[in-house]
Amino acid sequence: MTAEARTAVVTGASSGIGAATARALAAAGYHVVLTARRKERIEALAAELPDAEAYPLDVTDRAAVDAFASWLDRFPSLDVLVNNAGGAYGAEPVASGDPADWRAMYEVNVLGVLHMTQALLPALTASGDGTVVVLSSTAGLGTYEGGGGYVAAKHGAHVIAETLRLELCGEPVRVIEVAPGMVRTDEFATTRFRGDTAKAAKVYEGVDQPLTAEDVADTVAWAITRPAHVNIDLLVVRPRAQASNSKVHRTT
Ligand SMILES: NC(=O)c1ccc[n+]([C@@H]2O[C@H](COP(=O)([O-])OP(=O)(O)OC[C@H]3O[C@@H](n4cnc5c(N)ncnc54)[C@H](OP(=O)(O)O)[C@@H]3O)[C@@H](O)[C@H]2O)c1
Repeated sequence: MTAEARTAVVTGASSGIGAATARALAAAGYHVVLTARRKERIEALAAELPDAEAYPLDVTDRAAVDAFASWLDRFPSLDVLVNNAGGAYGAEPVASGDPADWRAMYEVNVLGVLHMTQALLPALTASGDGTVVVLSSTAGLGTYEGGGGYVAAKHGAHVIAETLRLELCGEPVRVIEVAPGMVRTDEFATTRFRGDTAKAAKVYEGVDQPLTAEDVADTVAWAITRPAHVNIDLLVVRPRAQASNSKVHRTT
């Protein structure tokens, strides 16, 4: 890395939006640290990028997150944290949802963001121009049938962003929330439906151009690369064919 390079950490960089965001930030000139649990995937992507490295990390493991924060001390500054790791597990109604799924979604989507933000905030503040991004979701702003556990968790992520921005007012750290609607990524819906690819495909059936991971990454990179005094508080981004969580135009 060059002496002037600014460092950005991206969680969940092994697939989908996180991988695309790592690429976009590398293209914008950042030294990018890719993290996720699947080591081989982040190592392969880091090797493709001009100035990047991989660090395997489970954001729900606080001790591991703290060790990662110490490891980051090797860089001249830490400038950006993109809290992207997350996901939905199950789509059952509240009446029959599995509490274990709800707990797991809270762990990664809420406590994962909390762990990373708490551990990296001192370095982000010390940089004199830090940025925390929370990749929430339109599920963090409104609900839909079958979404209960994920919606509850993403509301938690939204509240972290809103509260942190208030608490950091006066500090040199921006808090940006990006809330995407329907994004067709390789794994998100398949994970939600526990590997059932037919069910996962139905999510996007007949929808003219759901967002891509690159569309969202472009939005995240745009928000990060505004001048330091410009804080994009909350950016909701959906495909044209989706007007709300439950209003989606389908051709079939
Ligand atoms: N796709 C959508 O429609 C959509 C819409 C709005 C918001 N979002 C949000 O956007 C983010 C990315 O979604 P995506 O569509 O790109 O999904 P994805 O392809 O399933 O990516 C999820 C990423 O999170 C990582 N991850 C999961 N649990 C983790 C943990 N405990 N520790 C560290 N990393 C973990 C996964 O990597 P490993 O398995 O390698 O750890 C993976 O890289 C998520 O927060 C999601 O909720 C998605």
